[in-house]
Amino acid sequence: MTSEAEPLTLVLVGPMAAGKTSVGRRVARALAVRFIDTDKRVAAAHGPIPAIFAEHGEARFRELEREAVADALDEGGVVSLGGGAVTDAGTRELLKSHPVAFLTVSADVVAARIAGGGRPLLAGDDPVERWKTIFEERRHLYEEVATATFDTSRRPMQRIADEIAAWRREQR
Ligand code: S3P
Repeated sequence: MTSEAEPLTLVLVGPMAAGKTSVGRRVARALAVRFIDTDKRVAAAHGPIPAIFAEHGEARFRELEREAVADALDEGGVVSLGGGAVTDAGTRELLKSHPVAFLTVSADVVAARIAGGGRPLLAGDDPVERWKTIFEERRHLYEEVATATFDTSRRPMQRIADEIAAWRREQR
């Protein structure tokens, strides 16, 4: 049973640079619930993500990420996941009891968004090509966990956020 005090919870998944953080903040504001970015939680507790990958490997990062997702879902609100969180079976299991919005973005608009670095999986010569390959590898996992899909390529983030908030209210 859902009590009045329980926050409206939803999860945002999608590839790197799909707008999960910028859309997520706005959705949280619209629903008057907290916003939790699990990458930020992991970095706050364990240090910068590139350093975790370099020193302990991706598998360890996925464990830390899974713990952060579990805690965030317990707290409730809008929970934005890192792009690769869905590759972890335990994390996918955690998502089953919540509405999940899959944010997509086209490769031609992603280039500007991924400039600036900080994403170890895109390090190297052709980050857009890497991004495309990784997205295609994971697409079936996003589709598996998603309750609904929203494209962020062409419309203002606020419009997309309003749409997601309206969709979430209908899920009650
Ligand atoms: C990753 C995406 C990043 C971050 C880490 C790994 C991935 O999050 O969790 O660099 O595997 O796609 P964003 O999707 O917020 O960039």
